[in-house]
Amino acid sequence: MDRVAGDDRHETRCLKFREIDWAAPPKAKVQREKAPVGEVVLRLDNLKKYYEVAANKMFGGGETKVVKANETLSFEAREGETLAIVGESGCGKSTFAKVLMGLETATGGNIMLFDENIQNTPIESRNVDTVSAVQMVFQNPFDTLNPSMTVGRQIVRALEVFNIGDSDDDRKQRMLELLDLVKLPRAFADRMPRQLSGGQKQRVGIARAFAGGAKVVVADEPVSALDVSVQAAVTDLLMDIQRENGTTLLFISHDLSIVRYLSDRVMVMYLGHVVELGTTDQVFSPPYHPYTEALLSAVPIADTRVQKKHIVLEGEIPSAMNPPPGCPFQTRCRWKSKVGGNKCDTEMPPVRLLSAGHQIKCHLPDDELKNMEPVIKIAAE
Ligand SMILES: Nc1ncnc2c1ncn2[C@@H]1O[C@H](COP(=O)(O)OP(=O)(O)OP(=O)(O)O)[C@@H](O)[C@H]1O
Ligand code: SF4
Ligand SMILES: [Mg+2]
Repeated sequence: MDRVAGDDRHETRCLKFREIDWAAPPKAKVQREKAPVGEVVLRLDNLKKYYEVAANKMFGGGETKVVKANETLSFEAREGETLAIVGESGCGKSTFAKVLMGLETATGGNIMLFDENIQNTPIESRNVDTVSAVQMVFQNPFDTLNPSMTVGRQIVRALEVFNIGDSDDDRKQRMLELLDLVKLPRAFADRMPRQLSGGQKQRVGIARAFAGGAKVVVADEPVSALDVSVQAAVTDLLMDIQRENGTTLLFISHDLSIVRYLSDRVMVMYLGHVVELGTTDQVFSPPYHPYTEALLSAVPIADTRVQKKHIVLEGEIPSAMNPPPGCPFQTRCRWKSKVGGNKCDTEMPPVRLLSAGHQIKCHLPDDELKNMEPVIKIAAE
């Protein structure tokens, strides 16, 4: 142990600690170039997903109510692109992912994967190509791995399902390469899931998702169940593989600071609606949809030079079982009084194009949008 000068209770086991320049700024990670964005791979057109639930199940009542989890969801995603999907809990992010995966079927609208309509085809009726083309990385890696099968076996199983490889040896070799891809030692092939940490399990989940050459990967809050210390490494790994393979990544997240750093475009959802969609720069600078403005004001920023508008989003997101009339955001919107009459209370806002590729669903007049101030400002030094 070596004593650190100036503090009699501070010791270190590092031999070279005196040689380190502690004032040096941390070096930014070398980023792989973003994948070139190509053809439209996935197109959603007015997708609707309603669930019927017993209204008073607890008391044995027979009446049913409808939960409108997804309403008129429309967007497209291109090859090699990362589209982030953000919005509060319950706004319908996972619902759309489940319909896309075929774990649920749609109530209305279309999902086109390349030139195939898949919104009404449950996963068990999909052909192998479609199943391997759309894969998911789940939020909780603890639930998604089979606890009684080795890691290697689970990946080989995925390769068998996707018809990859000509022989068992071939698949074993491919499995080892997939472990390399997600930066796990090859010896992990013989481990059981319980012998892995959360971050390591999620790496296996990523290996499995990419095993069949997925074209579209939906990552539903892929790191939120992991320890903060491994979140960045797992996110970076996912991004590296996505870029290398030119995969379309739909990244569902609550964390707008991660979203800003990794996505090409951002889609903001509220009560089953797309309220804003644009490139990351468009969504992170004014004019915003009033809901996006409130979300941005809640992003924690450690940098003391940054001045942030404090916008309190009052109340909870309304129930999808009983959405308000008019604009879905009208019960919490601070801009509502700037719209003439009672339009916000009675009329669903149209989708408006603000600039190329940037749309919002809002009645606010153009001059109000033009004068909207940025939520986040960097103070002059
Ligand atoms: N199987 C179901 N039956 C009835 N209602 C459901 C079902 N699945 C989801 N819902 C409801 O649909 C709405 C959207 O849920 P969803 O899971 O898509 O939200 P989310 O945006 O993924 O939220 P979170 O960020 O908490 O994961 C919620 O009101 C939810 O209660
Ligand atoms: S339509 Fe009205 S209530 Fe809805 S977000 Fe715009 S201003 Fe707010
Ligand atoms: Mg969810």
